[in-house]
Amino acid sequence: MIKVLIVFGTRPEAIKMAPLVKAFQQREKEVETKVCVTAQHRQMLDQVLDFFAISPDYDLDLMRDKQSLHSITANVLMNIKPIVEEFKPDYVLVHGDTATSTAAALSAFYSGCKVVHIEAGLRTWNKYAPFPEEMNRQITGRLADLHMAPTCVAKGNLLKEGVNENTIFVSGNTVIDALLSSVNILKDDQTEEIKELGRHLNLEKEIILVTGHRRENFGQGFINICTALKMIAEKNPLLDIVYPVHLNPSVQEPVNRILANISNIKLISPLNYPAFVWLMERSKLIITDSGGVQEEAPSLGKPVLVMRDTTERPEAVDAGTVLLVGTDIEKIVNTTQKLLSDENFYQKMSNQKNPYGDGAASERIVNYILEKTQK
Ligand code: UD1
Ligand code: UDP
Repeated sequence: MIKVLIVFGTRPEAIKMAPLVKAFQQREKEVETKVCVTAQHRQMLDQVLDFFAISPDYDLDLMRDKQSLHSITANVLMNIKPIVEEFKPDYVLVHGDTATSTAAALSAFYSGCKVVHIEAGLRTWNKYAPFPEEMNRQITGRLADLHMAPTCVAKGNLLKEGVNENTIFVSGNTVIDALLSSVNILKDDQTEEIKELGRHLNLEKEIILVTGHRRENFGQGFINICTALKMIAEKNPLLDIVYPVHLNPSVQEPVNRILANISNIKLISPLNYPAFVWLMERSKLIITDSGGVQEEAPSLGKPVLVMRDTTERPEAVDAGTVLLVGTDIEKIVNTTQKLLSDENFYQKMSNQKNPYGDGAASERIVNYILEKTQK
């Protein structure tokens, strides 16, 4: 019997770790699984925990309004320590590139526990983009004992850094596990939030779905993004731009200041996962700076314009379903207009591609870890 501690704290980590929690829980005769949430996010984390019916064994409840990178990182580092030292897991599993994952990995390492990095090996090689996520991911990579790379490109990045090939496993991305299970559930049933959303939005109209929250876009980047959205709304009165606004105050402030009171821009609260998936499926195209949305939208056949200059997820760019437009106003507006008016261009970008996984990543990861431990 081995013991694993699964740690996460933000919305995207929760979505991507949820299928893994379920997969471990199904193997209860071979593995004792405990879940620790740092609650680096509170409301946006709880939305995910509710939907996937996950009751954490430990809830550190760390989120503070306008927290700094320093405070959240230090708090995670300190607060994971007693849990690891009491539970004594064989492995601590962390995900991706957040303050939670890096500080939890460091805390586990200091306490003498092995670290498994889920969604390992994504790189831009640019220290400041995404900030601070690129460095978080590299640091976690140095600390990790096992690396679950979602794609062969990610594995290649780790090999370039000299990581031992025997510790890397190409698993696919668990985000596709979460996505496919939600799409399946949505086939049979609609959640209350979706019904409410359906009443609130005019579903006769075409929808452009928008999300944005990256730190490197704070300030002028967000002003540009909002200006571009305003111009797109003015040019296309027959469509609605729907924007579930991230709860970070540095995002809320410019978005509400610049985009409130425009009749065809709907600023709404963050949606729970199935409602967001439902909205992605209903959208004509998606404009975002989100990492997770870049991975999900190609699986749904939706073109994505990414408001970043560089991406650690090149697979969908190479597949032609994702285009980088940065935060350049003209580029965002012109590419959107081209997608709306040029059917050939739209069709090329809306091919359903699934470069990130097939929905079985979690099961593969559990099998790999159990086999590795039994050897
Ligand atoms: C964090 C991650 C980022 C990830 C993003 C996903 C780090 C350094 N950043 O950025 O990698 O892409 O989450 O969304 O780990 N807030 C709330 N309620 C919530 C969530 C946030 O009020 O449910 C507000 C709080 O005031 C909080 C602030 O947003 O202090 C910032 O949250 P934080 O997790 O530090 O940064 P994010 O920008 O969300
Ligand atoms: N998402 C959600 N509700 C929303 C917006 C996004 O559930 O209102 C989901 C989305 O499907 C994806 C994840 O949140 O799985 C992305 O999170 P975010 O953009 O906050 O972080 P990132 O992926 O950029 O780290």
